[in-house]
Amino acid sequence: MQVVVIGSGYVGLVAAACFAEGGHRVLGVDVDAAKVESLRCGRSPIYEPGLDELLARHLASGALRFSTSLKDGIADADAAFICVGTPQSEDGSADMKYVLTVAGQIGEAMALRPADAKPLIVVDKSTVPVGTAAHVHAEIQARAERPFEVVSNPEFLREGSAIQDFLEPDRVVVGCHSDHAETVMKALYQPFLDRSKGKWFRMDPPSAELTKYAANAMLALRISFINEIANLAESVGADVDHVKTAIGADHRIGPAFLNPGPGFGGSCFPKDLQALLKVGREQGHPLMTLATTVEANRHQKQVLLRKVKEHFNVKPGVPAPLKGRRFALWGLAFKAHTDDIRESMALELIEGLVNLGAEVVVHDFAAMDAVKARIGSKVRYAGTPLEACEGADALLIATEWPQYREADLDAVAKVLKARRMFDGRNLFRPEAMEARGWTYHSLGRRAVEGQ
Ligand SMILES: NC(=O)c1ccc[n+]([C@@H]2O[C@H](COP(=O)([O-])OP(=O)(O)OC[C@H]3O[C@@H](n4cnc5c(N)ncnc54)[C@H](O)[C@@H]3O)[C@@H](O)[C@H]2O)c1
Repeated sequence: MQVVVIGSGYVGLVAAACFAEGGHRVLGVDVDAAKVESLRCGRSPIYEPGLDELLARHLASGALRFSTSLKDGIADADAAFICVGTPQSEDGSADMKYVLTVAGQIGEAMALRPADAKPLIVVDKSTVPVGTAAHVHAEIQARAERPFEVVSNPEFLREGSAIQDFLEPDRVVVGCHSDHAETVMKALYQPFLDRSKGKWFRMDPPSAELTKYAANAMLALRISFINEIANLAESVGADVDHVKTAIGADHRIGPAFLNPGPGFGGSCFPKDLQALLKVGREQGHPLMTLATTVEANRHQKQVLLRKVKEHFNVKPGVPAPLKGRRFALWGLAFKAHTDDIRESMALELIEGLVNLGAEVVVHDFAAMDAVKARIGSKVRYAGTPLEACEGADALLIATEWPQYREADLDAVAKVLKARRMFDGRNLFRPEAMEARGWTYHSLGRRAVEGQ
């Protein structure tokens, strides 16, 4: 199959590289000329495990090419995937300007297709509100002289394991009207479905569009739910680790997404929830559970700062109450295995600490450059996790990189001013930290005060 993938960000680049891995011939397109140039040289602009290897392999074989113009691939393409951003507008809705711009460009390029070409399958892979397939269709129709069909194919990959998720999907959702569209989509995904025995769901485009939002909303809801249970566990003297394990053993509930944390962030949940809330309001069906989820998450993103303020007895009205204090912060990305800092709670934590007069020294395994570009000299940047801790009053953990769990805590204790940790990811057990003499605050378990 010949594929054009428009947008070379987290989703588009992964899709392009993986379709090439699946045996298809792919043109990746992006408006960002510097990004395209770097991709042509095999340099990925994002951190994603396994991506560099796929890029190298398929650039070398010629199965994967990059361009700034989709015209270079539309003439003989079987499918064109729209993978551009759908950021949040001021009113909360998904901003569709990038998607509709691309639809217009596809419409104009359709004239390049032979008159007897099979209908081009135009695929909405960006996360888009219900009804977008129809809007994209209208944009193309206004310019197109050749047959086409718009299909909705939402993406469920997770940053950090995006390549594996794409190559071994647990399900592929395709919203389409014709058998031709389904045949093209199946041919594209068959190599991956063969590997994973993933499920194939054909439905109408609005159902496919809603499926993506509903999936993200359900996951966010579970996170906020367990975070609230964790907060309650602390007050009533319960241990959330026991609670989550026992409820997760119920097959109706399951264990996934029941880890308390410092609030969800990232490029998807926050904006997708706002977009779904907006649609619900517009349709006269306000999504009340979702509104509460968003509110609970806003509160949860302050959880580590609240614990620090309580511990250091920060009183309101005192100017710069943490002046002279230094904090080491491990983890900047919104979750492990990615360099994505969009809506990361670590940034809110930094803001809060700096506003209280504290000095912050940060470390991350992938997101340091992104944070430097965003906040510059507001914090100091450490080359290693241990270096971040030198002379700090406490260590804060915001991202669950596995290397942090394996850190030599005795070495860390030696360079900190005090054995003091605020762990937003529950990487350690309180009793183990108590035995090693740490003051240890985590989520949903008892706080431990060291000697
Ligand atoms: N990031 C994720 O984990 C994830 C997962 C599932 C779905 N999604 C959805 O996929 C979509 C893309 O997300 P992302 O994280 O990859 O975004 P991104 O911001 O990383 O990438 C978007 C890319 O599109 C390019 N672009 C913009 N306009 C263009 C145009 N006219 N022609 C060509 N390229 C253009 C940009 O330069 C950028 O490189 C969003 O709707 C998002 O909600 C994201």
